[in-house]
Amino acid sequence: MRILGIETSCDETAAAVVEDSINLLASVVASQLDTHGKYGGVVPELASREHLRAIVQVVREAMERSGTSYPALGAVAVTCGPGLVGSLLVGMTFAKALSFAHGLPLIGVNHIEGHIHAVVMETRHGGQEVELPALALVASGGHTHLFEVREGWRYRLLGKTRDDAAGEAYDKVAKLLGFGYPGGPVIDRLAPHGNPGAVRFTLAKMKGNPLDFSFSGLKTAVLRWTQARDLAAEIQARRALLKSNSRPATEDWLAVTPRDTLDLLASFQRTVIEELLRRVRLTGEQINARALIVSGGVAANQGLRRAAEQARFPYPVLFPTVGLATDNAAMIAAAAFAKYRRGEFAGLDLGASAGLTLAS
Ligand code: KG4
Ligand code: ZN
Repeated sequence: MRILGIETSCDETAAAVVEDSINLLASVVASQLDTHGKYGGVVPELASREHLRAIVQVVREAMERSGTSYPALGAVAVTCGPGLVGSLLVGMTFAKALSFAHGLPLIGVNHIEGHIHAVVMETRHGGQEVELPALALVASGGHTHLFEVREGWRYRLLGKTRDDAAGEAYDKVAKLLGFGYPGGPVIDRLAPHGNPGAVRFTLAKMKGNPLDFSFSGLKTAVLRWTQARDLAAEIQARRALLKSNSRPATEDWLAVTPRDTLDLLASFQRTVIEELLRRVRLTGEQINARALIVSGGVAANQGLRRAAEQARFPYPVLFPTVGLATDNAAMIAAAAFAKYRRGEFAGLDLGASAGLTLAS
């Protein structure tokens, strides 16, 4: 059985076809990087407009590349939240039209559950099942959450960020230092060139739930570090580099980034990783986790992947392949299979929910 997934919650227009919750037949992602890059973040009005421009072609490509015709589909799945309402509505309206025109069941998927199911799908593809209860760390530009994943794909929220998301911290630090948007990939590439022990940031102390995260203090500490120095010339040089080339190579960045700044980036990344893995260690013990799922854009981070491997957790550590860590539609189609089996179909009145939660 094949499901077409559609994802437009933020700044990627994506469509994918997944078969039997295991085989990814085609995944198409149209990034809006060139549109938002120069603004240092996603501009909601522009995002909706770009989704409108891209959606027809992206869905057509996913259907063609997977060799699927509409009558051969079992359902159409679409992200219904959380995300930017104007962006969500583009994908949802398109999915509803397809569902109505072809008489296909419609399935609404929570974006965060999608991130988790990218890993479930890939694990199955490798011939295994994710053992439950699992711990799921979903860290991206919009959210940083720890869930317990139970049988029947039921979720319990263990901790979440009280302020910035982990990816948002990357994006803000990168913007502050003239590295453009998104910040995660460039900081990740430059961090190995600096000394991660050079700048000592204090780890966040949480009142109340010790499993909650906070990244705003770290962001402020980086701001103070920059204010204590005269970085105008190097920031200027990096902005000029970005203007001449929207995707500079690592060597180009290194040419305009002095050692002190590389040390700062390495130390920032080390601190984010420590904050994330500290909570994982605590919660893993608490729920007797049999697997750890790490997903969302920050799961693409090479430093985090290495650190999680070296942490010697007493359960398997499961990351998605890098292309399925950041936003995509394969994860939306994958998450829809369990809903299909349970008969959880949506009507054409399915609403977009900007603040949709997965569990409390
Ligand atoms: O999951 P995603 O594509 O979109 C949201 O649901 O937010 O995540 C995008 C976020 C951005 O904040 C980006 O800077 C971050 O993920 N990101 C990374 C890396 N690649 C993307 N953060 C750290 N290291 C990376 N390699
Ligand atoms: Zn996401």
